[in-house]
Amino acid sequence: MFGLFKKDKTPQAPRHISIQPLGETLEHKNGDTILTTALEAGINFPHNCRVGGCATCKCKLVEGEVQELTDKSYLLSAEEMANNYILGCQSVPKGDVVVEVDGLEAGASSISMVKTSATISSVRNLTHDIIELNLSLADGMDYVAGQYADIELPAELGEGTRSYSFAQSPQLRRGDKQLSFHVRKVPNGEFTEWLHASDRSGAALNLSGPYGDFHLRPGNAPILAVAGGSGMAPLKALLEHAREEGVTRDVVYLFGARTQADLYCLEEMEALTKGWLAHFQFVPVLNQEDEGSNWAGRRGLVTDHIQELVGGRLSEQHVYMCGPPPMIDAAEAVLKDAGVDGSNIHYDKFLDSSHTA
Ligand SMILES: Cc1cc2nc3c(=O)[nH]c(=O)nc-3n(C[C@H](O)[C@H](O)[C@H](O)COP(=O)(O)OP(=O)(O)OC[C@H]3O[C@@H](n4cnc5c(N)ncnc54)[C@H](O)[C@@H]3O)c2cc1C
Ligand code: FES
Repeated sequence: MFGLFKKDKTPQAPRHISIQPLGETLEHKNGDTILTTALEAGINFPHNCRVGGCATCKCKLVEGEVQELTDKSYLLSAEEMANNYILGCQSVPKGDVVVEVDGLEAGASSISMVKTSATISSVRNLTHDIIELNLSLADGMDYVAGQYADIELPAELGEGTRSYSFAQSPQLRRGDKQLSFHVRKVPNGEFTEWLHASDRSGAALNLSGPYGDFHLRPGNAPILAVAGGSGMAPLKALLEHAREEGVTRDVVYLFGARTQADLYCLEEMEALTKGWLAHFQFVPVLNQEDEGSNWAGRRGLVTDHIQELVGGRLSEQHVYMCGPPPMIDAAEAVLKDAGVDGSNIHYDKFLDSSHTA
């Protein structure tokens, strides 16, 4: 995701990864992790962050040895460590290996991961520091609403990738070769400073995807959505997808921003509210809006408003959150205190190099 580790380019004999209980054996490319190899082969290997931060990709190393790129000890239990569990996204085979993955059903396959090139077809300002980045791809890429792609840094910036969530529901895009993202300018951020510096339309980029397991789970429970900043992108995609599917669950969507100048996608949220088949409430919350301004909406942090807005039904909610890691950590604590089951809380933290350094 962040390209912190350079690949070992020394030529070596082909290595193989056997994935159990699927019984598939994959040829391993030098330097690739177990997870990348599996995703490229179209195997639905559980994963989310791909930087050693969530443990979704844990699997048991049954045979062989791996090089581990990061320390797994703070994510895995003592029992898992003793039983040879590893993180698929952080393990590079040193030779042939056999891994056992919980929850993999025989024949299970995901949308295959695609690596392709793209041209920036257009950019559009959404706020003073968020742009809509539109790409035209050389090859089609399918995805599930909520997932993300990895964009390689342009050659002039060096090696590495950055992750961006698909901002449109797959049903609403103009063909499988068009992608749209919302990219916030991060102060001193390598890629986003470059992207925001001038109109980059026509520039070439490479990307791969889809990645991640953030998506709408089936069920009838009411939905609580929480986003901050460009965290709007995956939630907009997920909710638009749900509307296209005719979902009839109640939704409260809290959107955290600093000031009125940071609000965006308001027309899209109005369209969702009108077109939703059950109750849909979009609630912007501003935490740095001038006290004397004309803002009549809610102020403070999104976490201050969850209880009041959702009330007695809080523990029933299925929660979907995207955006800055501190917002998600704070909201998760509030939700768990209120009795929301951890298995009903789903999120993508927009981690950047400052979090993973
Ligand atoms: C799953 C996922 C989905 C995401 N989706 C989106 C999205 O839809 N939209 C979006 O805008 N963002 C998204 N992000 C964040 C995105 O991937 C980038 O991290 C972000 O755009 C910053 O990239 P950058 O190259 O500009 O900044 P970086 O160059 O990565 O720098 C980020 C910050 O870290 C600081 N920094 C750099 N190196 C270090 C270091 N060694 N130590 C301490 N600080 C350091 C920089 O000064 C800067 O302030 C997502 C992230 C994830 C994980
Ligand atoms: S730790 Fe591997 S996907 Fe998150």
